[in-house]
Amino acid sequence: MTLSINIRPFRSGDVEPIKELTAQTFAGVSLEQNVENLLGLLEGHDWRWRKARHIDDDVARNPGGIFVAETEGRIVGYITTLVDKDAGRGRIPNLAVDPNFRGNGLGRRLIERALDYFRSVGLCYAMIETMEQNEIGRHLYPSCGFEEVARQVHYARKL
Ligand SMILES: CC(C)(COP(=O)(O)OP(=O)(O)OC[C@H]1O[C@@H](n2cnc3c(N)ncnc32)[C@H](O)[C@@H]1OP(=O)(O)O)[C@@H](O)C(=O)NCCC(=O)NCCS
Repeated sequence: MTLSINIRPFRSGDVEPIKELTAQTFAGVSLEQNVENLLGLLEGHDWRWRKARHIDDDVARNPGGIFVAETEGRIVGYITTLVDKDAGRGRIPNLAVDPNFRGNGLGRRLIERALDYFRSVGLCYAMIETMEQNEIGRHLYPSCGFEEVARQVHYARKL
């Protein structure tokens, strides 16, 4: 099914809605939440605050490579990208779709949009990662043509 959802380039006014969507959507699939589960609240900030800050980083690094999915003026998904032209590599650090709009191919469309963008700036390969606990990511990325190359283990401790 094709939804009447437009995918367009990021605008500066999108930062806050994207951060809100991030805070709403990453429960159960965020490294920041896993750390909080282990160590508790840190510096008075919860995992949602920490995760939303990743968007600030993405915007600072490559605003021209962020795309948002919008319907009736409401942002219901986004994808962020990083580009290393010398290495020929594109990376997708963050991707999210509003739970009310999932399961209709929007995540896949956002990934395809990012891959088209990578091709348009002359890159030759793309990378994306997901946590082992993220069942949807582990299904979606291989079905978008990505192949597993490595697994990484994250550790944390209190100081
Ligand atoms: C990952 C995410 C963006 C996908 O958005 P979406 O619009 O639902 O994506 P799509 O509809 O294109 O594809 C979802 C796929 O996962 C499948 N899926 C849904 N629930 C699943 C589950 N529990 N286990 C495995 N696969 C599942 C769907 O069937 C679909 O696959 P298909 O196209 O082969 O049928 C969305 O789930 C999300 O925002 N999750 C929270 C944030 C997140 O995990 N971001 C990625 C971090 S790596």
